[in-house]
Amino acid sequence: MKRGPKDWRTGFAERFDCRLQRDEPLWRHTTYAVGGPTPLMVWLDKEELLVEARRYLDDCGVGARVLGGGSNVLIADQGVDVVVLRLCGRLARAKLLERSRRLIEVAVGAGMNLSSLLAWARKQGAAGLTGLAGIPATVGGAVKCNAGTPTVAMADRLIEVRLLERGRLRWVAAERLGFGYRRSSIGSRRVVVAARLRLPCSTQAAMQRDLVRALAGRKLQPRSVRSAGCFFRNPPADSAGRLIEQAGCKGWSEGGAQVSTRHANFIVNQSSAAARDIWRLSLRVSRQVRKTFGIKLQREVECWGSFQASPAHRRAG
Ligand code: FAD
Ligand code: EPU
Repeated sequence: MKRGPKDWRTGFAERFDCRLQRDEPLWRHTTYAVGGPTPLMVWLDKEELLVEARRYLDDCGVGARVLGGGSNVLIADQGVDVVVLRLCGRLARAKLLERSRRLIEVAVGAGMNLSSLLAWARKQGAAGLTGLAGIPATVGGAVKCNAGTPTVAMADRLIEVRLLERGRLRWVAAERLGFGYRRSSIGSRRVVVAARLRLPCSTQAAMQRDLVRALAGRKLQPRSVRSAGCFFRNPPADSAGRLIEQAGCKGWSEGGAQVSTRHANFIVNQSSAAARDIWRLSLRVSRQVRKTFGIKLQREVECWGSFQASPAHRRAG
């Protein structure tokens, strides 16, 4: 990081009127409850603020990444050297744009929780997202990762996405964003600011049936234990969970991390795990699956920071 005559963090705090926190521990913001500090966490509630803040950080030569629900990241114990941005306020609201008898169109800020969007849509009588119930994401994270289940994915409902890209805001058609299974071409430099969705209208009874079905699809998944969902992507026409179980890894542990005894593709933080424990266990699992089946599992969870020789920052308590 370049440092000017004045510390860039002091400069940032003087210049921007927003909530911020220096040396914020990231375990507080991830579903895994692991991860060391970021030099600065910033909460942004307006587009102009986001654009200006990003420009300032670029000028200082400081990297920045957006954290949504923190439900698909494993953050190293010694933390990261980038600023972590959170989107809130006006960047976390839904607005009805159009309604016909069969469809509604909605614009939604990327910082909104997916669960709040689902509840909002249900009040509007709009279905189409119910299959995503139980995913602890924000809209921005769900768009970037194309969160989904075997029956529906975020991209299925997207018309266009508002991106901050090279200092400019623009709407980009969903077809141009390379969506596929848990994938998009959004990358780590662009920020999803909002999304425009088209949702089919439905009855409350039908939506309730869809919800029950969606939650039933999760009956194998561990509950009330910290995780980042499935750790590995499913290989084509196969299931990583099945492969991991049949390779004999269910119940394996490393420090406070465990391969869930319910669903083998969940590596859980069972008791004050360090990020390093989770990382090491994931390597053992993928080695074992490769040895048993000759299949190389691809990680779904993103790793931030360095995982070489990290001193464990265990969560206090
Ligand atoms: P984060 O984890 O915060 O970030 C993930 C990536 O998105 C990072 O690269 C981050 O920089 C980027 N990002 C976040 N917001 C923005 C933004 N506004 N602009 C640009 N980039 C952004 N996933 C599924 O697909 N299906 C499931 O059924 C599912 N079930 C889960 C169940 C549990 C219990 C848990 C803990 C996780 C589950 N997941 C599932 C994984 C996870 O919820 C998804 O990958 C989700 O899309 C991550 O969203 P997030 O907001 O938490 O993103
Ligand atoms: N299975 C096993 N052992 C296990 C786990 C699963 O044999 O330990 C078998 C199951 O019996 C089933 C098959 O594997 O026959 C598939 O399992 P499951 O129905 O649980 O689905 P999945 O493919 O493991 C996928 C998504 C989940 C999503 C569910 C919704 C991936 C990697 N996983 O799970 O997404 O919630 O479908 O049904 O695509 C995530 O991406 O983080 C995630 C949780």
